[in-house]
Order: sequence, then C-alpha cells, then structure tokens
Amino acid sequence: MSLIDIFDMTVEELYGLMETASDIIENPGKYSEKCKGKKLATLFFEPSTRTRLSFEAAMLELGGSVLGFSDASTSSATKGESVADTAHMISCYADIIAMRHPKEGAPYVAAANATIPVINAGDGGHCHPTQTLADLFTIYREKGRLTNMTVGFCGDLKYGRTVHSLIAALSRYEGINIVLISPEELAIPQYVKDDYLDKKAMPYVECRSLDEALPGLDILYMTRIQGERFDSVEEYERLKDSYVLTPSNLSLAKDHMCILHPLPRVNEISVAVDKDPRACYFKQALNGKYMRMSLILKQLGDGQDAIGVKESGIKTVVNLKHCRNPRCITSTEQELDHIFKLVNAETAEYRCVYCDAVHGTVPESL
Ligand code: CP
Repeated sequence: MSLIDIFDMTVEELYGLMETASDIIENPGKYSEKCKGKKLATLFFEPSTRTRLSFEAAMLELGGSVLGFSDASTSSATKGESVADTAHMISCYADIIAMRHPKEGAPYVAAANATIPVINAGDGGHCHPTQTLADLFTIYREKGRLTNMTVGFCGDLKYGRTVHSLIAALSRYEGINIVLISPEELAIPQYVKDDYLDKKAMPYVECRSLDEALPGLDILYMTRIQGERFDSVEEYERLKDSYVLTPSNLSLAKDHMCILHPLPRVNEISVAVDKDPRACYFKQALNGKYMRMSLILKQLGDGQDAIGVKESGIKTVVNLKHCRNPRCITSTEQELDHIFKLVNAETAEYRCVYCDAVHGTVPESL
C-alpha cells in the first residue's frame, strides 16, 4: 500500500506505527535485519536534508539498502521522462519508493503507475504525510496524548504542506482547538478549512499576532516562509520576517508548551530558543527517522499493491476541464487524465484528485 496523504492510514494504523517506533527506540537490535535484501529508492526531485537522509538512515538501520537521486538534474526527468514512466522503471529496481517532487500530485501519479509502494515525501505545497508522522509521534511522546489541546500554526500556512497534513491528521482526534497565525496573504487554503476544520467541526481562529496567541497554546508549530513557493520576490521580501520566536516573546507562553518546526528554519526561531526545554524541533527530526523505519516495515509487510484512483464511488469527471493550479502535476505530465471529484453537488464544485484545487462548475453539458 502507498502513503500519499495521511488519510491513507487509519487512526489505529497510526497508533500501530507509533508503537513500533517506540519499540525500535527501546530495542534497536531487534530490527537491525528486518529489511535485509530489500531496497529503498529515494527519488528527490526537490532539495531535502531531513526527509531524504532520515529515510536512508531508516532503511540502513533496518538492514536494507538504498539507491536513488537527490537532484532531479541527474535523473532522466531532464530529458523529459514522465513521473509515470519513472515510477514504472524504479519498480524494476527497488522494493519501495520515497518520492519528493515540486509538482502537487506527483507521488499520486507515481503510485498509480508503480508496482511497489510509494511514499509521498512532500509534493509542492500540498502534503507531507511522513513529516506528519514525525509531528504526531513527537506530540505523543511529549504530551502523552493526541487529544484535548490547543495547537497554534504560525507562518506560511498557504504553502506549508506540513501544516496541511498535520491539521488533517489532528482532525481525527477529540478536543483539538486550532489557532492559525499568518499574514493574510499566507492564510490556510480553503480546502483545508472545508475538509478538516469545518467538516470535522474543529474549533479554530485565525489571527495575525503571535504574541497574542502564545499564552493559550499547548503546541506551537512554527514554519518557514518559503521563498521557493512565491511567484513574486518582492512579496517574499515583504513577508519573510513576519514572525520570529525569541526568548522574549516565548516568556508569554505556558511553561509546558511544546515548540515544533518541521525545519529547515531560517530566522523564524531564534537560535537562543534552542536551549529552552520547550524546544522540541530537533527531537522531532530524530523521531521522524523512527517513524519512517516503522512505516517502511509496515509498507513492505503490507504487500505491494499500488493505489489506483481511490475516489471510487464518488462522482468524478475526466478531461471535461483542466486543473488551473500551475503547480499541479497535470500541468506537466504527458497524457495524464484530468480527474475531478464532486465536492459540492449544489454549487457543482469539483476538486482535482491530484492537487486538491477546487474549481467551479463543470460544463453545462454534464
Ligand atoms: N522537514 C523537512 O521536510 O525537511 P527537509 O526539507 O530537509 O527534508
């Protein structure tokens, strides 16, 4: 089975992954040969430090081996090879794929064309489910629960794929209040509000001031303003220093607030905060390795079924309209069907299955 977004796993499966990760921490020797003879392919079409290297360390610590690339310019993507063909080919060389790609929905296309499990290691500004595994495990270890807490997300909530995936994951737990702290220009996408905050009736507020939000938070999830996602350099320059966490404003927070950040950071958390016992972001990165070990074990043990089009039973339209999101994989992949699922029958709104962009009505003829 592939992992494309966090909802590909049930809450029970997530607890199972966390249990295994905890056991790996306690008994690493028990797992050191579990993947002997297995190969992980890391296909990174976008830069990464933590995700790629923690996936590679995870497979090596399980006794398996690793192949792949960390730079799209060294792959045949530069000659125009499609994501579908790449996934098809890598299925001949490896047992499992971890893929990062700048186009939203690219891992979905890979999973639909691979004969081995595909793990989404981040697709554009869309999802980053294995970061969410690290985030959930860190919250669980630090707080002893995943329920009944106020979680603040601060920074780039528009393009922050880790934010989208973690809100989706938290929507399945009881008693979670969400505080969304961002400039108006980087507010959370509508689909995240529709699907998780509104649909699951999660209480949330949107605000601009980190200082005002800080006293009420149990978890603060800081994010980087991502220059690489902006169309305008001027806009990035204007917004990049919107929020900085320092020992001074941290004095407004609860004594046991937990500070998370998917990393890399630029300057949104002062280095002086690292010494504060509330700073959990380096532990979070280490927890990511244990959760990826747990995930690899589960995905390889689960058999090798690739996902298909998972919206069976929901009304879909194919090729009657084109996704207008320029970051969607449909904007570059050859001969890829444009598939939309109906999300609102009254307004006839359809959502792209690859990138989740919502579009207005389909043609009258439908
Ligand atoms: N958190 C995260 O995805 O980091 P990298 O970009 O370094 O992989």
